[in-house]
Amino acid sequence: MLIKNASLIITPSEVKKNQSILIEGNIIKKIGPSKGMDKTDEVIDASGFLVMPGLINAHTHLAMTLFRGYEDNLPLQKWLEKIFPVEDRLTEKHVYWGSMLGCLEMIKSGTTCFNDMYYFMDEVAKSVGKTGIRGCLTRAISSKGNWKKRLKTMTEKIKNIKNSSRIEWILGPHAIYTCSEELLVRIKELADNYNKKIHIHVSETEKELKDCLREHGKRPVEYLDDIGLMSNRTIAAHCCWLNDKEMDILSKRGVSVVHNPVSNMKLAAGIAPVVKMLEKSINVSLGTDGAASNNNLDMFEEMKTASLLQKISMKNSLALDAKTCLKMATINGAKALGINSGVIESGKKADLILINLKSPNLKPMHNPYSTIVYSCHGENVDTTIVDGKVLMKNRKTSLDEEKIYEKIEDCKAELF
Ligand code: NI
Repeated sequence: MLIKNASLIITPSEVKKNQSILIEGNIIKKIGPSKGMDKTDEVIDASGFLVMPGLINAHTHLAMTLFRGYEDNLPLQKWLEKIFPVEDRLTEKHVYWGSMLGCLEMIKSGTTCFNDMYYFMDEVAKSVGKTGIRGCLTRAISSKGNWKKRLKTMTEKIKNIKNSSRIEWILGPHAIYTCSEELLVRIKELADNYNKKIHIHVSETEKELKDCLREHGKRPVEYLDDIGLMSNRTIAAHCCWLNDKEMDILSKRGVSVVHNPVSNMKLAAGIAPVVKMLEKSINVSLGTDGAASNNNLDMFEEMKTASLLQKISMKNSLALDAKTCLKMATINGAKALGINSGVIESGKKADLILINLKSPNLKPMHNPYSTIVYSCHGENVDTTIVDGKVLMKNRKTSLDEEKIYEKIEDCKAELF
């Protein structure tokens, strides 16, 4: 596939003008002048478009699209009390259609890869298979009920499951307040034995911090580090309540953090010290969290909010600039998830998006990073390419969108 004459090619480190991108299979082969790159099966004319790496949503609960707009204006604990009883009623079918809706929303807003934590993950995998997006999938586990049986099932699965070209399987202890120490240790052993990443919520709220101090006499990151769960294979979502010592641990262990500014603001959970973490060389990526606490999966909105939140909380308009936000939503996400993408470079996976620059909110352009982070939103994405395949062009996908909307209405009627 040839993406011809792109007006601009943007990565977090460079801007290229009037160049073309040659894709072979699912890999970016070459970037340069169009001349000599013509013999391809598929040509996309990208003049008038900005081409950038697809965005990576490093923490979400995809099927929670079903809960979009259900119970706003509650603190996390009260909100979870409303959500949990409905979640108990979820079946495979609900999770499949909720995930299909989430995949559709992400493809239409320029996200090419997501890191999920939920239930009925075979259904999420089916939706990833069907829609063509890339996903890292995690079955959330807690010590509620018969966890030993669930852990056994999970172990069997981890042993036998193969990562496909677009699906990566990850281990997902939900959080320290839902998992016993014994369970956390068992998951760590499983991750070590099978070289798996661990995706966990860490220090999302002040309550979590205080409960941890009371129960274990130490802070959440210290507690997790003492039981060996903090490593360069760990993806820690939120990290709002950290002190310097905890940040040093995260940095030393090579833990990747996922910042979820919209969800943190909406649930009034806290403000993650993103600037400080970046100064300490911690890999900070970006996520939307579930659509229930956001209430969408638009990573452009997330980049902008991340920047604004640091500026106002630090009372410093220089804090967290646009380029850094783009880096968090692309390269840093790829690093956190261990996938070979997040940048437009030869040898990388062909996960990229085209932005239509002929849009009122994008004119004029003085600085492309500023345009992407502060002006752009998901609807400006015209074309989405994942793994070398076009999933959306001229804002049209090949999915039966009407059917997805109908099924979502059915799910809503059944669940609520
Ligand atoms: Ni979450």
